[in-house]
Amino acid sequence: MTFILAAAGSAVGLGNIWRFSYMVGESGGAAFVLVYLACVALVGLPVLVSEWLIGRRGQKNPINTMAELARKGGHSQAWTLIGISGVVAAFLILSFYSVIGGWSLSYTLGSVTGAFSGKDADAIGGLFNGLLASPGKLLLWHTAFMLLVVFIVARGVTKGLEGAVRTMMPALFILMVVLVIYGMTTGHFGEAMSFMFNPDWSALSGGVVLAAMGQAFFTLSLGMGIMMAYGSYLGEDVDLISTARTVIILDTLVAILAGMAIFPIVFANGLSPGEGPGLIFVTLPLAFGNMTGGTILGLMFFVLLTFAALTSAISLLEPVVEFVEERTPLTRVPATLIAAVAVWALGIAALMSFNVWDAPVAFGLNVFDLLDTFTSKFLLPLTGLGAIVFAAWCLDRESVHRELSLGATGNALWHATSRYIAPIGVIFVFVGGLL
Ligand code: PFF
Ligand code: NA
Repeated sequence: MTFILAAAGSAVGLGNIWRFSYMVGESGGAAFVLVYLACVALVGLPVLVSEWLIGRRGQKNPINTMAELARKGGHSQAWTLIGISGVVAAFLILSFYSVIGGWSLSYTLGSVTGAFSGKDADAIGGLFNGLLASPGKLLLWHTAFMLLVVFIVARGVTKGLEGAVRTMMPALFILMVVLVIYGMTTGHFGEAMSFMFNPDWSALSGGVVLAAMGQAFFTLSLGMGIMMAYGSYLGEDVDLISTARTVIILDTLVAILAGMAIFPIVFANGLSPGEGPGLIFVTLPLAFGNMTGGTILGLMFFVLLTFAALTSAISLLEPVVEFVEERTPLTRVPATLIAAVAVWALGIAALMSFNVWDAPVAFGLNVFDLLDTFTSKFLLPLTGLGAIVFAAWCLDRESVHRELSLGATGNALWHATSRYIAPIGVIFVFVGGLL
């Protein structure tokens, strides 16, 4: 139970509500959603189980785990690259994740002061654009969010969060359901459901499929060595497949509920689903501003969203801190500060992408989009691919079968999926997306 809470605390975050909904909107809806679900089941589950399998054997942080398992099995030390690219990915992701965490903090305050009540779509959009246009405000909130993360990580009180996850997660879930019910009253629920679940396959392209796979990795915290690190805490008796299934179902439900809550509001207010990263910040406040009890529900929502973002952010900072601690003479607190300052500084470049520095820096993308794209479409899939290939091809097959205790059919299925279906799928999507 504790393990599931920790894994779910890392998985459920801004990725489910903020990123999932804006990606769905931007990618044209249902086709993206269905490909995403397929990726979660066919790639996400085997990669998650592989990362845990590896972590449980190595019993160390991802870099050392990979080094040791590779050495023991007589494989190349190049496998440690998986651990290293995981740390790099965590570092890059946290820099922009914190900027969005800052938006959530800012909206928490906005809910307290009643900034959203009684406002129409234009006014709500204006508020959000005002936030984006101000590097100073963004910096303030990004800094505040990072400070919260640092405070928790430096004090090493991460364990204490499990209790909080236990109550906050169900609360977030219930609030999402309330929002979906509100969505049903807007008169545009059917339209939203058809947008999300009735695919227009012509909207599909290699790029959309790669984006969907990237979202699957991002949302499940895969390809960052994080789940591998968590695996080192797993007891021998834990059933990896059913645990993975539980975490994945929780994560997926939150994302789907978020979509079902947000798109009715989009259509009811004549907004564009392809709004971009601001989507939840221009839709949900509208709902809260117009429903009975909306002020208090809105406040609760942004508090819970910020909390979910914090638990995910902590799991992102942790490997970076460990990396610094291990490679320098620094102890925990200074290592945390150094790691956090570096992340924070990169985050400043990310937040300037929304105002003074929105010019493309490479591949036609600004810093924010570049960080997001490079990690979700490149680093995460490749690192995840490395993890599953290592688990499927380099770990002793018999012992893996014993560990997963699946029976003959299950073993054959695991074998086929982890050796062929998932890796080939990832390569296919990756190459197709790049082309
Ligand atoms: N999975 C988190 C989310 O969906 O918000 C984000 C995240 C956390 C990604 C931790 C990666 C990670 F290692
Ligand atoms: Na997630």
